[in-house]
Amino acid sequence: EKAGYEHFMLKEIHEQVSAIHNTLAGKVSELEGAIYLKELSLSEEEIKKLSRVQILACGTSWHAGLLGKYLFEQLAGIHCDIDICSEYRYRNPVMHEGTLAIAITQSGETADTLAAVREIMSYNCPTLAITNVVGSTITREANSVLYTRAGPEIGVAATKTFSTQLICLYLLAVKFALVRGKLSPDYVKSFITELRKVPGEVQQILNQKELVKECAEGFAHANSYFFLGRHLSYPIALEGALKLKEISYVHAEGFAAGELKHGPIALLDEGTPVVAIATKGQTYEKMLSNIKEVKARDAFVIAVANINDTEIAKYADVVLRVPQSDELLSPLLSVVVLQLLAYYTALARDCAIDKPRNLAKSVTVE
Ligand code: M6R
Repeated sequence: EKAGYEHFMLKEIHEQVSAIHNTLAGKVSELEGAIYLKELSLSEEEIKKLSRVQILACGTSWHAGLLGKYLFEQLAGIHCDIDICSEYRYRNPVMHEGTLAIAITQSGETADTLAAVREIMSYNCPTLAITNVVGSTITREANSVLYTRAGPEIGVAATKTFSTQLICLYLLAVKFALVRGKLSPDYVKSFITELRKVPGEVQQILNQKELVKECAEGFAHANSYFFLGRHLSYPIALEGALKLKEISYVHAEGFAAGELKHGPIALLDEGTPVVAIATKGQTYEKMLSNIKEVKARDAFVIAVANINDTEIAKYADVVLRVPQSDELLSPLLSVVVLQLLAYYTALARDCAIDKPRNLAKSVTVE
């Protein structure tokens, strides 16, 4: 069942290569620079008229949604709000004309997510669900359903369902951008070319997993971990921290790197492992400054950086490399490194990786 892997989590991390491929299958045309989302019940006219996207999700799915917010705003120019479902219901949300609600839930059974969806649907707001489970409750309630097609995920820690949720969000944001004239078919052609490279790039990272293992073992007894990211890597920093706490029971916090100096930096002391996602992109230089800040407090910096980055090794203590992808797609690669880091930390600490204490695969109580 585990196909030779010691845990479902490791198997599922590896399955991201084929899962991402399956999510994309039949949905993109490189030749035409087009994205096909037949599942979407919105017409092109309705997509043009959208004034807002409201994302609703919990846990790892919420991290996917956070990246979705950046994508909808940056690519399609649509205002996007995102809420944690257990908060959404109790904050008396103001409804806007032209809102599309997107609920992201791997299981399709999360009680808080279902409740938030029912709430927003009571305002006649069209709802799209992104889910992995065919026939789950959310698929019967939402107006349209986009499946992640990741295959069953057994490990409690969401891995392949996260990266495929991200793929769905990239497809939606680029589709909306195309329809609204924010991106040209030519740009979309090259974007699809880059998107198609992702499974191979994920495989390249998996081929180097021993390096991540070595790094994880070196810090298996750390009391606390920091994860820093900016812009598109910020949700990935949060996700890296959640993975680590969930399966290895190590205290971990993810931060927007620029926020560090507003308080959390006080927690740093000698040798605290700080994972800094520093792939090339618009915030790269800023990230380098943040790395210098934490180095000045004698923290131990583990950078996630591109293969061809020759500068980073001057500042970081350890560098875990990912292929040089399109800047927009780098979250799909850095997250794999962080999943492996959490996995190997949990392994070194002899934790019940597939069934961590106090957690269930789907949370059906509010
Ligand atoms: O099934 P859902 O995506 O709605 O689940 C939401 C969270 O419970 C889930 O992502 C949880 O945070 C994962 N165990 C994280 O690995």
